[in-house]
Amino acid sequence: RENVNVGLLGLGTVGTGVVKMIQRQQEQLFHQVGCSVSIKKVLVKNVDKERDVDVDRSLLTTDPYEVINDPEIDVVVEVMGGVEETRRYIIDALQLKKQVVTANKDLIALHGSELQKIAVDNGCDLFYEASVAGGVPIIRGLTEGLASDKIQKMMGIVNGTTNYILTKMSKEGLAYDSVLKEAQDLGFAESDPTSDVEGLDAARKMAILSRLAFSMDIELDDVSVRGMSNVTQEDLKYGNMLGYTMKLIGYAEQEDNRAEVSVQPTFLDNSHPLASVNNEYNAVYVYGEAVGETMFYGPGAGSLPTATSIVSDLLTVVKNMRLGVNGRSVLAPQFSRQLKSADE
Ligand code: HSE
Repeated sequence: RENVNVGLLGLGTVGTGVVKMIQRQQEQLFHQVGCSVSIKKVLVKNVDKERDVDVDRSLLTTDPYEVINDPEIDVVVEVMGGVEETRRYIIDALQLKKQVVTANKDLIALHGSELQKIAVDNGCDLFYEASVAGGVPIIRGLTEGLASDKIQKMMGIVNGTTNYILTKMSKEGLAYDSVLKEAQDLGFAESDPTSDVEGLDAARKMAILSRLAFSMDIELDDVSVRGMSNVTQEDLKYGNMLGYTMKLIGYAEQEDNRAEVSVQPTFLDNSHPLASVNNEYNAVYVYGEAVGETMFYGPGAGSLPTATSIVSDLLTVVKNMRLGVNGRSVLAPQFSRQLKSADE
């Protein structure tokens, strides 16, 4: 095989980054996998829209099935977002034996187990590194780097928008509304930022991470969530005076096959490594029984950082294709343990 064809579903902030990386890094990609990678078709909402990337107009389509059903497309990369419709497209792609890479945390948090099973049944890969903490390789970190250890606890700043807001409110004394607007303008916030500020976006990511770290069947409903929209300047100021910094923290802990996962605004002692993670940056602090403390840090949102994870997933898929091992290397474990609630 000299070339792998990619079909892209979506050309927003993240999709544009994926196209740019594939265009600019051909040589680097070739060195990694020994073949070229091309974008064959791109699903968009509006073919005529002005874009910040140079894509041949003939590649654009508004019909998802022109991408999914194209027999020459080997890998479908989903960066369109949304849940129900997108779930259908991914299932159809997997059933047509296409490899799938997605950045869709909502979809993976809600339907990850189902999609993974369909991927395995069809001998396909389903990778989703970009779904949590943008450019930070936390999913690989947990499922490969730390796979041998028993993860006991994780604390994560996994939402860039709220970390940006809390940082600017606390360090520059700016007002909540104006900083939220800034985060939206910078492209970090969700189209409806309620899911950022009310903690749901972080809860989705913590559900994904804790599932993988603890090999447990953890659902979104198992995560207790409190957002940060009613945190005030006063709260932050008093915290600062006492040596604490407020962060929206995703917390996950397991003991004896019981897990507790939550998201809430939390005062951290300034000496905690997560207290100095600022702006849109994300970090996940992971405590393993054998390894002790580790921390994964980097940009949690934004076009090129998120695209980095997606294109790296794509390279893994291509390597697997060349070895003929797709579907045997899905990152997620087979969720063998049932979650027991703390009061069972
Ligand atoms: N709205 C998300 C965030 C984007 O702010 O972290 C990345 O998932």
